[in-house]
Amino acid sequence: MAGQEFAEGFRFPPGFLWGAATAAHQVEGDNRASDWWAAEESGRLPHRSGRACDHLRRYEADFDLARAFGHNAHRLSLEWSRLEPEPGLRDEAAFGHYERVLEALRARGLEPVVTLHHFTAPRWFAERGGWLAADALDRFAAHCDAVVERFGSQIRWWITVNEPTVLAKHGWVTGDWPPFVRGRWDLAFRVIHRLCAAHRRAYRRIHARVPGALVSFAHSIPWIEPCDPSRTFDRLAARLRTAFLVDWCFGRVREAGRLLLDYVAVNYYTRSIVRWRPRGRALLFGVDCHEPHHGPRLFDDLDQELWPEGLLQVLRRCARLGLPVLVTENGIATTDDGLRLAHLRGHLEALARALAEGVELRGYLHWSLMDNFEWAKGTTARFGLAATDLATLERRPRPAMRLLAEVARTGRLAPTGSEVPSA
Ligand code: BGC
Repeated sequence: MAGQEFAEGFRFPPGFLWGAATAAHQVEGDNRASDWWAAEESGRLPHRSGRACDHLRRYEADFDLARAFGHNAHRLSLEWSRLEPEPGLRDEAAFGHYERVLEALRARGLEPVVTLHHFTAPRWFAERGGWLAADALDRFAAHCDAVVERFGSQIRWWITVNEPTVLAKHGWVTGDWPPFVRGRWDLAFRVIHRLCAAHRRAYRRIHARVPGALVSFAHSIPWIEPCDPSRTFDRLAARLRTAFLVDWCFGRVREAGRLLLDYVAVNYYTRSIVRWRPRGRALLFGVDCHEPHHGPRLFDDLDQELWPEGLLQVLRRCARLGLPVLVTENGIATTDDGLRLAHLRGHLEALARALAEGVELRGYLHWSLMDNFEWAKGTTARFGLAATDLATLERRPRPAMRLLAEVARTGRLAPTGSEVPSA
């Protein structure tokens, strides 16, 4: 998608945030008090997280790596089930741990972008009904208060909840994640509704105590387009899917007409091409399609299409909300270094084009720093800028990590065709 406009390369604005994103359960290891660990132990999930990347103990070396590769920001989640392993019990050792983690980030010049809830919850929370329990919002608000009280002054960028639509889909529709409920769209929408309400409360609580905080929730935003744009019903299917999967959440984080967001946190991976079908739930969402006129399409190991142009479209759309935007996730599941490089290059160009058009883009956090525990796919999906050797847990930077480092260090995206730096 390069286009002539970047024949001379592109300069990113000073202060742009560059880094990677992670989530506690996927990297830390031994996340024993969480609902996911319980589900893994019960045998209902095909993989066990075990020691994951052992980031719990290796976080300093991981942050050294991030810094050595030019990062100036890092997204992480604070694991609720470590901080509150039993209802109302604050685990001082866990608070101390995250205090050191945040200090370690600051010491290396890495701006923390902190998620309060990234899919996992304490086991006790899930056993009491999880997000559908009557007191779920109070429980989460209390957790939020505890984090704000202890770490408020150390955190500027906040993400309250990660991807409400994705959690609801896997937990209550496809049923491959805890609590393994299938086909309950009604409950899925209730969960999304709850997560958005949890966001609103957390937004207010953080702002009440942390001056200058920047608060959002991370939204999974695919680019959705009609299979045949000349067909009214395909266009309608794409519009409806966008309305349910993207806009509905934005609508639910409004209060008195105002969005309770300080920036839009975009997790972008792929595009969906949709065709209308006059049957069942396809009436609302359409069905994914692939037709010859779409030409050859590239997919990653999780069957997600690589479509950098979609990031540009999503950024343009988010900019219409009138808020700054931060890309809080974008990445590819592959073991093919060439494909990973092409993916990164394409998405960096999309960022450049968005900035050139005037989108207020604040930064780019790549998913992920290293290969990690990819939920129900275990370690089979490799998203890392660095490969993780599963036997030794050694991290080995991939070529894409060097490309990102070069852009982050120089603030400049060189024209297409330039060499990937070797160090
Ligand atoms: C999630 C991550 C996940 C990534 C790649 C996002 O939906 O926030 O936890 O690992 O996608 O699948």
